[in-house]
Amino acid sequence: MDVLSFSFLCCKLLFFLSESSFASDTITSSQSLSDGRTLVSKEGSFELGFFSPGSSKNRYVGIWYKNMPVKTVVWVANRINPINDSSGVLVVNKTGNLVLTSQNKSVVWSANLSKEVRTPVVLQLLDSGNLVLRGERDGDSETYLWQSFDYPSDTLLPGMKLGWDFKTGLERRITSWKSSDDPSPGDFIWKIERQFYPELVMWKGSRKFYRTGPWNGLIFSASSLRLNPIFKYRFVFNEDELYYTFYLTDKDVISRTVMNQTVSLRQRFIWRKANQSWELYSNLPKDQCDTYGLCGAYGICIISQSPICQCLEGFHPKSGGYVDWSQGCVHNKPLNYSRKDGFIKFSELKLPDSTSSWVSKSMNLKECREKCLENSSCMAYTNSDITRGGSGCVMWFGDLIDMRNFQDGGQDLYIRMSASELGAKNEPTTTILVILISASGLFTVVLMVGCYIRISRGNIAGNNRRTDQENEDQNEDLELPLFELATIANATDNFSINKKLGEGGFGPVYKGTLADGQEIAVKRLSKISEQGLKELKNEVILFSKLQHRNLVKLLGCCIQGEEKLLIYEFMPNRSLDSFIFGLDPSTNQTKRKLLDWPKRFCIICGTARGLLYLHHDSRLRIIHRDLKASNVLLDHEMNPKISDFGLARTFVGDEIEGSTKRVVGTYGYMAPEYASDGLFSVKSDVFSFGILLLEIVSGKKNRGFYHSDKNLNLIGHAWKLWNNGMPSQLIDAYYQESCNLAEVIRCIHVGLLCVQHHPEDRPCMPSVILMLGSEIMLPQPKQPGFLADRKSTGPNSSSSMLESSSTNTITISTLEGR
Ligand SMILES: *[C@@H]1O[C@H](CO)[C@@H](O)[C@H](O)[C@H]1NC(C)=O
Ligand SMILES: *[C@@H]1O[C@H](CO)[C@@H](O)[C@H](O)[C@H]1NC(C)=O
Ligand SMILES: *[C@@H]1O[C@H](CO)[C@@H](O)[C@H](O)[C@H]1NC(C)=O
Ligand SMILES: *[C@@H]1O[C@H](CO)[C@@H](O)[C@H](O)[C@H]1NC(C)=O
Ligand SMILES: *[C@@H]1O[C@H](CO)[C@@H](O)[C@H](O)[C@H]1NC(C)=O
Ligand SMILES: *[C@@H]1O[C@H](CO)[C@@H](O)[C@H](O)[C@H]1NC(C)=O
Ligand SMILES: *[C@@H]1O[C@H](CO)[C@@H](O)[C@H](O)[C@H]1NC(C)=O
Ligand SMILES: *[C@@H]1O[C@H](CO)[C@@H](O)[C@H](O)[C@H]1NC(C)=O
Repeated sequence: MDVLSFSFLCCKLLFFLSESSFASDTITSSQSLSDGRTLVSKEGSFELGFFSPGSSKNRYVGIWYKNMPVKTVVWVANRINPINDSSGVLVVNKTGNLVLTSQNKSVVWSANLSKEVRTPVVLQLLDSGNLVLRGERDGDSETYLWQSFDYPSDTLLPGMKLGWDFKTGLERRITSWKSSDDPSPGDFIWKIERQFYPELVMWKGSRKFYRTGPWNGLIFSASSLRLNPIFKYRFVFNEDELYYTFYLTDKDVISRTVMNQTVSLRQRFIWRKANQSWELYSNLPKDQCDTYGLCGAYGICIISQSPICQCLEGFHPKSGGYVDWSQGCVHNKPLNYSRKDGFIKFSELKLPDSTSSWVSKSMNLKECREKCLENSSCMAYTNSDITRGGSGCVMWFGDLIDMRNFQDGGQDLYIRMSASELGAKNEPTTTILVILISASGLFTVVLMVGCYIRISRGNIAGNNRRTDQENEDQNEDLELPLFELATIANATDNFSINKKLGEGGFGPVYKGTLADGQEIAVKRLSKISEQGLKELKNEVILFSKLQHRNLVKLLGCCIQGEEKLLIYEFMPNRSLDSFIFGLDPSTNQTKRKLLDWPKRFCIICGTARGLLYLHHDSRLRIIHRDLKASNVLLDHEMNPKISDFGLARTFVGDEIEGSTKRVVGTYGYMAPEYASDGLFSVKSDVFSFGILLLEIVSGKKNRGFYHSDKNLNLIGHAWKLWNNGMPSQLIDAYYQESCNLAEVIRCIHVGLLCVQHHPEDRPCMPSVILMLGSEIMLPQPKQPGFLADRKSTGPNSSSSMLESSSTNTITISTLEGR
């Protein structure tokens, strides 16, 4: 028997000997708990009793973690009424109230039950840390007469609600202690603001100190989109209540959130068993940009810039100088405050203070804009819910304050502008992206939009860009955007065979139409393994927060019983492979003719931009690992959108290379170092992109490529033609008429650079985009990686039989020994 359980047993024995009439976690009416005694929850997690904080001699009734060397108090009953001696007694009195009395029987504190309870009542300390009063016969039901979770002190425990109960008018908030010696309420309050568009706000006295941004259906606007395996969050807002709560996915983890007066931070701690100490997990506010209203009205805080305060585009500093930002900014061109005004869309923002806001769940973005235009005090609007492609309407009245730049985590906001300001920067007709690369790897992006030029700096490796945020915010994660099975069954006529679009890598895909008319594609995952389920969740969480016009939008998922469904926006033109390879026998050749060279070139550039976003610009650095023609879908305008992120890997910070024993991907697209050694990196995606590029140019598949020279696959063939000075022979006859020869040759050149054998020789996506879009000199390509060439040399080999039967969508998933 170990020491802990032995001492625990002793405790119990002692309890039994002295107070044998009641169990150690409860007291009933007519019993009492005097100073020196304690209650211990059933499993021994928490303890209730009298204590003196820090160096104080005062006595308080509180709850703390049992069996922890550092006494950590999570709740205090008589915060403002200490007892100055050991005369305190906690009792459940005859009318069922919980009362703390001191020496002369005077009431120091009571639970203030509003009505008298006639039935016998017990007080119980639960293992969640909740102290509850309940009817003796109510057993384990969760209807309590009173519970300490309704009256938090400075600590939020898992399962505790922060927020409002509208029926009773009860508000639950946490307030810091005055000092470590004094648990009476200090200056800092952490609470949910009860408003149309609620948010969490930290107050210092009567001053706002920090806000999380409003709940956008997925997260609080200013929390990062980071996966975390430990916490889950729930946000509830309906007629009855408004609250936020967190819980732990692993019940062995011990964690608490506390409002800390000493450091002016809301801290989250995790208990380290091995070290027997608390480890700080996260802090709020995180940095200077979190300071409430730092940059004033219409100012935006950008942590990587100097000064960190800027005016939004279309605004200038009010004070004229750049020193005092509290004055904020004003419109360059005055508003007309009528329908004559318009809006400019700003992205990646922490939404402004939403005290004066208004929400309609039923209005769409267009209706929202109309309504905002009509109201002269409406300064901005956006979707109130960003899940499922965005819905609802939120409008802001009065000046917009406390915005910051949030790459990828942030949101779109449409801000009112005068018509003349809009005229100056109408939708750009052309956007030219020029990237200048210096030897150090630093690049400067000059984005020319009409006559406006915006310059931003970064680093090709991407590791200098947003470390400030990445290191600090690891706390908030998000829930899966979920659909009801009934909704999807309805949308797809009960998965009717008529609605089936085809078979994807993991199962059939159906077309559906939601009640509001939105068309969707539903991937029905067949018998999914444990591992598969992990990949699924991975895909859903990752994908649902990525927003780029060259990525297929994942609207959500449905995991109910055996059914596992992924819901995507519907792509009317399906996948690229059917166009370039003409796989559909009925429409075979006509479909290939539809793609002239300009369209092909647009598809190449769009796919490159999508990949650039995944590799460098999205907050989570993502390696696709299975880029191929069948994973590039086309919308009604033939714009390419990359799909299928089930195999994606996220990378955090500097980790741009990885190694895996589980090689997943598709032969014919895999880089040699990945297929043979399991090494993957952004450069293995670049390799796949190179293959795709050559396939688009040639109209031929790399895998299953058949040529009289049996030893060559498509890359080999392209390489040979290149070296013989005849690259134009690669051009697909179907678009020859529309072709711009210089552009095609350039594409072949870039394609060959991407498929070079050594990863370090291959360009990164920013360079690829530069190379595709400009006339700069390109280096000569070196020997390409010839992987999988000899595996599919002729139409009779088994691998190509597989291929013809399943249209090049064989995704392999093997354990390769290494
Ligand atoms: C406790 O406080 C009361 C006044 O609130 C005082 O009369 C009493 O002497 C104090 N007792 C001790 C032990 O300090
Ligand atoms: C029980 O305590 C409450 C609160 O102090 C008080 O109002 C009530 O009268 C008490 N009941 C009895 C029977 O003492
Ligand atoms: C005794 O009771 C009176 C009121 O009933 C209270 O003002 C006083 O502080 C109490 N004294 C102690 C020592 O608790
Ligand atoms: C109980 O009610 C009294 C009087 O209304 C109030 O002063 C006291 O703060 C209340 N106590 C609690 C714990 O709410
Ligand atoms: C407040 O923060 C300080 C410094 O991190 C820490 O030592 C202290 O324990 C914290 N207080 C609480 C109540 O967690
Ligand atoms: C345990 O504490 C030591 C020193 O206090 C520290 O170096 C180590 O990182 C801690 N380990 C964990 C798991 O927190
Ligand atoms: C709005 O525009 C109209 C027509 O151009 C003009 O007469 C009016 O003065 C403008 N109002 C403001 C407040 O600028
Ligand atoms: C604008 O909307 C707000 C909030 O709905 C309302 O209070 C105000 O009266 C409206 N103003 C005008 C001019 O319609």
